[in-house]
Amino acid sequence: MTAALADQARLDLPAHWPAALGPRALAGLDATTPFLAVDLATVAERYTAFTAAIPGVSTFYAMKCNSADAVLGTLAALGSGFEVASAGELRMLRELGVEASEVLYSNPIKPPAAIAEARRAGLWRFSFDSEGELHKLAQYAPGAAVYIRLRVDDSTSLFPLSRKFGAEAHEARALLLLARELGLRPYGVTFHVGSQCATTSAWRQAIAAAGRLMTALAEDGVQLEMLDLGGGFPARYVERVPSLDQIAATVNAALAELLPYRPALLAAEPGRHLVAESAVMVTTVLGREVRAGENWLYVDVGAYNGMMETQQTVQQWRFPLWTSRTDHALVPHLPFTVTGPSCDSSDTMFYGVNLPATIEVGDRLYIGSAGAYTLSYASHFNGFAPPEPVFVGGPIGAGVPAPAVPASLVPAPAVPASLTGAGVPAPGVPAQLPASLTRVAGRS
Ligand SMILES: Cc1ncc(COP(=O)(O)O)c(C=O)c1O
Repeated sequence: MTAALADQARLDLPAHWPAALGPRALAGLDATTPFLAVDLATVAERYTAFTAAIPGVSTFYAMKCNSADAVLGTLAALGSGFEVASAGELRMLRELGVEASEVLYSNPIKPPAAIAEARRAGLWRFSFDSEGELHKLAQYAPGAAVYIRLRVDDSTSLFPLSRKFGAEAHEARALLLLARELGLRPYGVTFHVGSQCATTSAWRQAIAAAGRLMTALAEDGVQLEMLDLGGGFPARYVERVPSLDQIAATVNAALAELLPYRPALLAAEPGRHLVAESAVMVTTVLGREVRAGENWLYVDVGAYNGMMETQQTVQQWRFPLWTSRTDHALVPHLPFTVTGPSCDSSDTMFYGVNLPATIEVGDRLYIGSAGAYTLSYASHFNGFAPPEPVFVGGPIGAGVPAPAVPASLVPAPAVPASLTGAGVPAPGVPAQLPASLTRVAGRS
């Protein structure tokens, strides 16, 4: 142990760590590590708060973020629609009883066979951002409704997407008119401000761009039926991010001020915001060593089998961490480099994170806010199995009693009374899930 003792910060679980997944509850879960403990009550609360904060906007959960059956089922039972990136995702939804007609296919570049399969299944709305894709859609989904993905400023997001996707504003009008010529239905406009977006103004600018396109198209006799706000709504990890209320205030005002008319459907495709904070990655310490004066911790999950996003940011992205040690908050902490189980060094997840000086082989490391883009990214690299989900807090628990969520942890939808609209469903996991979802989705 060579490094100097790190400053002992006040050690408390972060406030956004689900109460149902505290260290004692995690220790009581009977599952082999690595596993992802998911609190379905938190998923339900996040969905309910989101829909209440941005009234009149329908949610289409971006299932690429976390496609565990019980997560999808919880959201479906609450009335969420879904956004898919592939025919494979659509198939998963259909197996759960979700109607393809309730699904948006928002990947702007799609395999022809996937377009045809989705169309046959009853999916009727497809995104695009290029002339080539329009011709493909006209051929494989004749008559389909199409919505254009605009390139918008995503420079304040952690995971920008606009280099890969998005039509320039000046091309968009002509592309939607071409859609009409090709026998497609010019249906709507969408954008993505980038995942984990850190500024509310990104949405305002993007909505303004969509509004300008709607105004221009009105001159051509085209009235768009959908404005889709995409994803990018952030979750809380360690750094502060704009709150849902702050984002909602900006979005609600922009929708009221910047559109020439209100399209029949206002949509959003949140992923990370709904699920990240609902889950904790539970890992076991496999080794503890000192390498060139640096403390290394080897655990049974790494970048390849679940924590890929730790590799995707230029500067290290911090996740909230805790351990199974009962002395966690009592002993001095040391800086550690935390790496995965493979023989490759690039599965290293964290550098210089403070953990109890006493941590040893066999202890568990808990990685908080791990519900998004973890299971769905995980590979079998080096023969290490991806983590399995274990559910608590819902009717599909893996034999775990549903923990009561203290009322203080249920976010009150802080929406001005004038905006609350129709009755907002009470937070919580619905008692009834589709029959197809009653199987236990946890580790067998
Ligand atoms: C088309 C589309 N919609 C929504 C999302 C969800 O984004 P987020 O998880 O940042 O909300 C993504 C993520 O990449 C996406 O590609």
